[in-house]
Amino acid sequence: MGESVEIVEMGPRDGLQNEARIISVAGKVALVDALSSVGFRRIEVASFVSPRWVPQMAGSGEVMAGIARVNGVRYGALVPNVRGFEAAMRANVDEVAVFASASEGFSRANINASIAESLERFQPVMKMAKGLRVPVRGYVSCVTDCPYDGAVAPEAVAAVASDLRDIGCFEVSLGDTLGRGLPERMDAMFAAVLERVEVEALAGHFHDSFGRALENVAVALGRGVRVFDASVAGLGSCPYAPGAAGNVATEGLAAFLETAGFEHSLDMERLRAAADVARGLREGVV
Ligand code: HMG
Ligand code: MG
Repeated sequence: MGESVEIVEMGPRDGLQNEARIISVAGKVALVDALSSVGFRRIEVASFVSPRWVPQMAGSGEVMAGIARVNGVRYGALVPNVRGFEAAMRANVDEVAVFASASEGFSRANINASIAESLERFQPVMKMAKGLRVPVRGYVSCVTDCPYDGAVAPEAVAAVASDLRDIGCFEVSLGDTLGRGLPERMDAMFAAVLERVEVEALAGHFHDSFGRALENVAVALGRGVRVFDASVAGLGSCPYAPGAAGNVATEGLAAFLETAGFEHSLDMERLRAAADVARGLREGVV
């Protein structure tokens, strides 16, 4: 038996957040319900952010209320601040995620705060989450390239990743937001982060704008990373990263892992059915 790798499903959140056409709550619920039987341990479903910044995520509470929860699946959501955390708790979210950037330009564009201010803003969220025993994931965006500041230094990523661990994130997901990361630069970034954060607490989050996501998964696997984010049917992009495509497709990642001799927990037939639902949403059929 090969070593096992966890795939965290991003489609309902990262996948849909930048769709131009507003997708109905029923459509989002149908996608999550199709994903729930695939075998994921975690599905990122929602985002409790300002609806003025990301209109597509406005119905997140209703989506959470509408899904049929399956035992053993943790349903997660992004929260940028205390207000978002409180809304996530009202919606019975199982796991939340705070999100920071390794570059100042993206931090300002995405959450209207400097990196330092964003970490300050997360502190009360961490405290409340700890009190309620809610696991908090942390994201670092722009781990090699920023749409506003250009190339990002590996040490800048390592500093933010280690800060997120220090404030209490159980896991830090390293995001190639633009999908521009060259494998050799990705490897240098992982080397720097691993000086400060243990590999068991890291995940890879690769957008596939230039078809390099799987190469970067291979780089991360080589560094010992065993958790990867992916989006069914490759749905998605980021509203504050112009030109970025979706996360690596879940189906492609699962097949790649199998070829590379790793185990995953997904039922490929059910995954293909969920991908059909995802494509239906994107094409306006559902
Ligand atoms: P701001 O304008 O600095 O803050 O936004 P504010 O406190 O002045 O609030 C602005 C408005 O939002 C106000 O409403 C607030 O009440 C409201 P108004 O008075 O204008 O009507 N507001 C909220 N509403 C609902 N839920 C909340 C909330 N907080 C304030 N939680 C803020 C700061 C952080 C709120 C804003 O910048 C924001 O929501 N940004 C979110 C951006 C986002 O979601 N981006 C996409 C996700 S990140 C990503 O995709 C990257 C990732 O995938 C990893 C990778 O690929 O790299 C994770
Ligand atoms: Mg992303």
